[in-house]
Amino acid sequence: MNQFCSKISNSLNGNIEVPGDKSISQRILILGSIAIGTTKIKGLSSSDDVKNLIKNLKLLGVKIKKSKILTSVSGVGIGGLISTKKKLYMGNSGTATRLMLGILCNQNFETKITGDKSLNKRNMYELIKPLRQMGAQINCKNNNLPIIIHGYNETMPIFYEQKIPSAQIKSAILFASLNSQGLTTIIEKIATRNHTEILLKKLGAEIKINKFKEKKIIKITGQKELKARSISIGGDLSAAAIVGSAALITPKSQIKIKKVNMNKTRITFFNVLKKMNANIKISNNKKKSSEQIGDITFKSSNLKGIHLGKKIVANMIDEIPIFSILAAFASGNSSFCGGEELKNKESNRIKSLYEGLTLCKIKVTKKKDGLQIIGNGKNNVIGGTKIKTYYDHRIAMAFLVMGLASKKKIIIDNADCIKTSFPNFITLMRNLGANISKRK
Ligand code: S3P
Repeated sequence: MNQFCSKISNSLNGNIEVPGDKSISQRILILGSIAIGTTKIKGLSSSDDVKNLIKNLKLLGVKIKKSKILTSVSGVGIGGLISTKKKLYMGNSGTATRLMLGILCNQNFETKITGDKSLNKRNMYELIKPLRQMGAQINCKNNNLPIIIHGYNETMPIFYEQKIPSAQIKSAILFASLNSQGLTTIIEKIATRNHTEILLKKLGAEIKINKFKEKKIIKITGQKELKARSISIGGDLSAAAIVGSAALITPKSQIKIKKVNMNKTRITFFNVLKKMNANIKISNNKKKSSEQIGDITFKSSNLKGIHLGKKIVANMIDEIPIFSILAAFASGNSSFCGGEELKNKESNRIKSLYEGLTLCKIKVTKKKDGLQIIGNGKNNVIGGTKIKTYYDHRIAMAFLVMGLASKKKIIIDNADCIKTSFPNFITLMRNLGANISKRK
């Protein structure tokens, strides 16, 4: 296991870009695979999650060519994937697993899906249920991977009302609906990231979105072929959030992150940062490939605590680890609630954060679906411990950032998981001036 350690760092400075957005990368690779024509993608995420997905799509008969700048996907049509005897190995990716279950729901063959130790523990029940309702046969133990899915080529459209706010589940049902005859309806009570809807519109799917009071109603008619379109993907906001946060808590720092995806359903974390008194500025905001792209500048700040409710938590679900770290450096108390879903991420994030923060001598209380964190204020966080990451990339990166502004060094037990989303994280942080090193 590759242990890494981060130590107090004086000033982080530079203009950088982060890897392409992982959510969009995974969606366009899958949609490109079942579209008619060739999809050309610029800015694809360099993450392991995306690399594994490419291998799996190739096993299902899709031709994908990758150069440094451009990735081309030759689509086979909505019903055109072919079966493979090999298992699809999803690595650490809950998103790729759920999206692929959606697509395989109506391919008339059997596929085995498995993942790494952490993914194999994640519960898939909330998705398995609607996919079975649509007609797929799904075999597994305790709703966990490994899963054997036997798709059915005449799947039924369904009416699905959101049980938990999840973009992965919504997207998987939308993917399953693409080859189902008739109208599938999805009701979202709490809106989640909408990259799937944007891409489906772009590729010519028959999709309509309306609002009724607080609810979002998505209607999609299946069995219409998609047309391949070229796309340029902006930087991953969740990756930018982690790097930028390091500037907020270290002295004399300024980091500009260029060309970041600024989709409205993703920027809640930045709005929360502003309320925490963070010195951040968004500039150069423009539309590219139907998504907003912009630059964000983060400067050293004196943060203050904040309380987050369920809706906000759902909209910054991947930023909760780094938010919890910032809360430790804020003056005053912070909390979040309504984060039940955090227990089913790459680790049980409520548990991992609680344990890690407590070891760093932060006063933190665990609630049913959240945490309460008493801020120590800037320059007052002790650190001086080894963190169990549970092979969770966001926990690993968040605690490395914490060590950059703590009195004593912070060690993480395994940095290998970081490549799940952000393979060049440590190099990029070091280039900005971060004191991060490998433990021998
Ligand atoms: C994702 C949705 C989120 C997020 C995950 C990526 C996606 O999960 O945590 O990292 O690409 O759809 P939810 O399904 O909880 O929204």
